[in-house]
Formats: sequence, structure tokens, C-alpha cells
Amino acid sequence: MELVSNDTILKEINNNGIFVSENLLKNNEIERLCHEFSFDEDVKIIDISNLNELKQFSETLYNFVQNKNISKFLEDYLGDVPVCTTIHFTRCKQTELKSEKNEINDGSVMAFHNDDKGKQIKINFLLKDLEKNSNGLGYAMKSHRINWLEKLILYFLKKLNYMKKWDKHLFNYYKNKYKNRKVNYMFSEEVLNKFNIKHVYGKKGLVYIFDTNGFHRQGHSAQVSSSPREVLTLYFLGKKKL
Ligand SMILES: [Fe+2]
Repeated sequence: MELVSNDTILKEINNNGIFVSENLLKNNEIERLCHEFSFDEDVKIIDISNLNELKQFSETLYNFVQNKNISKFLEDYLGDVPVCTTIHFTRCKQTELKSEKNEINDGSVMAFHNDDKGKQIKINFLLKDLEKNSNGLGYAMKSHRINWLEKLILYFLKKLNYMKKWDKHLFNYYKNKYKNRKVNYMFSEEVLNKFNIKHVYGKKGLVYIFDTNGFHRQGHSAQVSSSPREVLTLYFLGKKKL
């Protein structure tokens, strides 16, 4: 791994919720990774419980997450012992967007949402070049932050022994629940009003790391790209959340 310090990653994720770099993998590591994950299936989800299981699938990923710049960042950000819970491979072509309301009703990744796990880190590796106008990730920068009023309310609720493990957005969740909508979604009009969007695309080997409390979606554009997006994702949670 090239030198990007754990503090640099930590600072970026604390500030924006997302860190993107072309310099975390060397060329030979990228090639090895593509070879290790050359599946025929378009989707493969492997639940794991420890890093030795990850090692069975990929020495490259194992070495990557064992590198102190990554392991220290994960530990500091999650404030706990980081546990890799899932290896997720996806190969998907850009599909035509339905109405946003339908995407949300279907629980689709094409609409802005946060994952339901609370504070969770996903480390993603592009296994193929991805064009600018494609289905790369769109991430609402700084949307991972729980606002001060939510923090204050949670502080008092936790004192009273309620919502002990709650570490995700509160208002959006209950607003949706009240309106009988999918709880973790936000309409793009509101997201685009409140946040700047980071579009992730680039060369094979690009690594992007984000907090899944931030609102994100799989991108789309009028001009549909012909080549599929190939991404490998590792999920990390703090041990106490398991
Ligand atoms: Fe997601």
C-alpha cells in the first residue's frame, strides 16, 4: 500500500463522510485482486466473522485491512474493535431510472438512502474502470453527521435507558415513519438542497471508503454507459454492535 496515513483518512471521513484515493493499491495488488474476484455471478455476498475468513478469499484484501493505516483508521473511527462482516461483489449495468417514488417504495439503491446499521464503514474497490457518466456512487458529503439537536435528544434518551445503541439519523427516520415511507430514504430534492454530492468514478483500483450513515445512491445519467460497474465492498462494524 502506498503511503496515506490513517489520520488523513480519519480527517476526511470525519469531515465529509467519504475518502477516495487512487493511491492505496499498487498495480500488482490491483491485478491480483481482479484475479481473486473474477466471479461469473453478478452478485456475490459472503458473510464472514473474522479476518481469517477474509484471508481464505483474498490475501490482497487481508493484507490491505491489516495495514496499520487502514486498521488504525477503522479502530479510531468506529471507536471499537473493527469487525469485517461482509464481502460483497457486484457487477451491474446502469439501468433506467423509474420514478423516484417507485425507487424508494422498492427499497432501491438508486435512491438516496442511508444503510440501516448506524455507524458502519464500507471500503470499496473498483475492479473495472468506471466512466464519469455512469452508475458510480453518489454520496451526499457531510450527510453522515448527526445534527446537534438529534445528539442532544439522544443524549437524554440514553440517560433514561432508551435507544442505547442508536447512532444514526433520528429526525429523518421518524419523519419517514410518520409519513409511512421507507425509513432510511430521503428525496433527492431535499438531499441536493442540503448537501454537495461527490460522484465516484475512475480507474480500476480506485478505493473509496465511506460511512453508510451518509445519504448515498447508485448514480445514473441520461447517457447510459455500456460497460458494467464492478465493485468489491467490505463492510465494517464495531464489535459492540454485533
Ligand atoms: Fe447503501
